Amino acid sequence: MPTFSHQYLQSVCRSLLVANRVKEEDAQLIAEHLVSANLSGHDSHGIIQLLVYIDRIEKGHILPDASLEILQETSTTARINGHWGFGYVITTQAMDLAIRKAKESNVGIISVFQQSHIGRLATYSITAAQEGMIGFITADSGRTVKNVVPFGGKESRLGTNPLCMAFPSNLPGPFCIDLATASVAKGKVDLAKQRGESIPLGWIIDKNGRPSTNPNDLDLGGSILPIGGDQGYKGYGLSVIVEVLSGILTGLGFGVDPEGIHNDGCFVMAINVEAFRSLKSFTKDITAFAEYLQETPLAPNSNKVYYPGELEYLTTIERKDKGIFVEEATWKSITSLMTRYGITTP
Ligand SMILES: NC(=O)c1ccc[n+]([C@@H]2O[C@H](COP(=O)([O-])OP(=O)(O)OC[C@H]3O[C@@H](n4cnc5c(N)ncnc54)[C@H](O)[C@@H]3O)[C@@H](O)[C@H]2O)c1
Repeated sequence: MPTFSHQYLQSVCRSLLVANRVKEEDAQLIAEHLVSANLSGHDSHGIIQLLVYIDRIEKGHILPDASLEILQETSTTARINGHWGFGYVITTQAMDLAIRKAKESNVGIISVFQQSHIGRLATYSITAAQEGMIGFITADSGRTVKNVVPFGGKESRLGTNPLCMAFPSNLPGPFCIDLATASVAKGKVDLAKQRGESIPLGWIIDKNGRPSTNPNDLDLGGSILPIGGDQGYKGYGLSVIVEVLSGILTGLGFGVDPEGIHNDGCFVMAINVEAFRSLKSFTKDITAFAEYLQETPLAPNSNKVYYPGELEYLTTIERKDKGIFVEEATWKSITSLMTRYGITTP
């Protein structure tokens, strides 16, 4: 597989986005966000998504020059219409607003609707943690096609509905829990398809509700399972919470509209630690807590106990050094787009 430096991949993303009417500064933000997903090991949310976004711009589903509108606002809350802009740009602004409100009033809570995909959630929560806040975000996929089955069913009625929380600490990397409430993000099934690989048992069922290791079964009427295996009702419950916060509280709605445009409804929150105790003592305790978790005696066949977010931090260090692999099929599609837009290797 071809391997590239993160700077090179950012530059490819930026050029392709600018060629598609995205403003320079927005293109830079989106490129950094996409490639940081590759760096952290989440290739499903990295440069591969660029192909989807360019297709959505061409179809008019993403409006690259849209600006957000605040529809309702108090000192601690706001409701935002993203007017079909890039989710990365709109939700970055929403989290910045939540942080500003939390600095003034101890908490900032924002809901966002009508925006495109927001990518890897950790980026937004980590921004809040860097400002001494607890950052929290949930996202759903609006009323577009669903991929996750409610526990006990065989038809998809939910999105992969991720949630993420990050806490300030003195650790070298972010202390951050960032996960889909489904057994896996859909992008990981798509990636396995692109790479011609089978997937682990427990990720999906086929259209008849039977367990499958074939990633192609998902698009043939199959579904992703909620997290938890035979305890999947707990993942299902978490998914429902995310759907209520991101879909129903935002006013976006639930279920599928066959005409629906992909639309990441979001619930964004920043909580000022200083409203409860000093930031210094809190970060000291979070750091000690992470170390306490890491020092847990190991189970047989385990090499290490990680704190949440540690794997992504270690992978980022490694990939900054050794480069990022991009599968042949994705790279071929990207280079053909570069040719189409007359972009020479930056
Ligand atoms: N925007 C969207 O619509 C959308 C939808 C779904 C998922 N996503 C993103 O996809 C990404 C992948 O989600 P996922 O659920 O497939 O990720 P995942 O299954 O890899 O879980 C990631 C989380 O688990 C932790 N983790 C992983 N292995 C660990 C270990 N061995 N020990 C301790 N902690 C461990 C990670 O630090 C991280 O917090 C996330 O960044 C998520 O935000 C986005």
